[in-house]
Amino acid sequence: MSLSAISTQPRILIFDSGVGGLSIMGEIQQKLPYAPLIYASDNVFFPYGTKGEAELTERVDKVFRKITAHYLVDIIVVACNTASTLTLPHIRSHFSQPIVGVVPAIKPAAARSQSQVIGLLATPATVARPYTHNLICEYASNAEVISVGSSELVALAEQKLRGKQVLPEQLKPILKPFFDHPRGKDMDTLVLACTHFPLLRGELKAEFPNHLELIDSGEAIARRVASLLGDKVFPESVPEHLAVFTQSSPSVESLRPSLHQFGIHRLDILEI
Ligand code: DGL
Repeated sequence: MSLSAISTQPRILIFDSGVGGLSIMGEIQQKLPYAPLIYASDNVFFPYGTKGEAELTERVDKVFRKITAHYLVDIIVVACNTASTLTLPHIRSHFSQPIVGVVPAIKPAAARSQSQVIGLLATPATVARPYTHNLICEYASNAEVISVGSSELVALAEQKLRGKQVLPEQLKPILKPFFDHPRGKDMDTLVLACTHFPLLRGELKAEFPNHLELIDSGEAIARRVASLLGDKVFPESVPEHLAVFTQSSPSVESLRPSLHQFGIHRLDILEI
């Protein structure tokens, strides 16, 4: 779709398996405070980080088909590293909307790290993806990259947004491989390569005694979305955001207070 074909009131879809994409939504809201946003979570198939590649590609295709048939969508933000590092070529060739993918911020991390010892915290799937290995080869080949994949951390972020506190005792075993690594004490930069993890930024930072810069792709994604919109301007009024889930459940209801914090007051269920 050419950008001139984007509606005068463009609708931006932000998609993730769960609540992680809200970290991207927050960045987009900072940059485009008047843009109405559709947040979609495929809670039926959550978590994505433990799913096989063929089934995940098929699922993402199915979900996008259904969502774009149901809602007017001008730009799709795949606010999930696990889905982006696998499905971007497929989605780009099957959907006409501009697609913005969220992938591990290895390049900026390598540019900023003084010690050239970089942590990579992602889902087990993202850590194992050839896409991620290629990013490391291309942008951080001279650095030591310590990779840790954790689905438990994804679950903790989900709990936090449902009002449960995340405790240091829950984080320590997940982060232990960084401390156990022979070069772990030199690590000065940590890439949060799962969109769930910036939701735990404070808790994660508190676990590292030395100064550590936590880097994610959120702001760059918001810049990319703004540049796709070009000179389109939104009327200066409180935008009506919408959240869509692929199945109804009590666990969706328990998210309402967190969704309100992102200005989302309307919830739809689109069963897929
Ligand atoms: N938020 C997703 C990501 O950025 C993954 C969470 C999941 O495993 O579903 O990778």
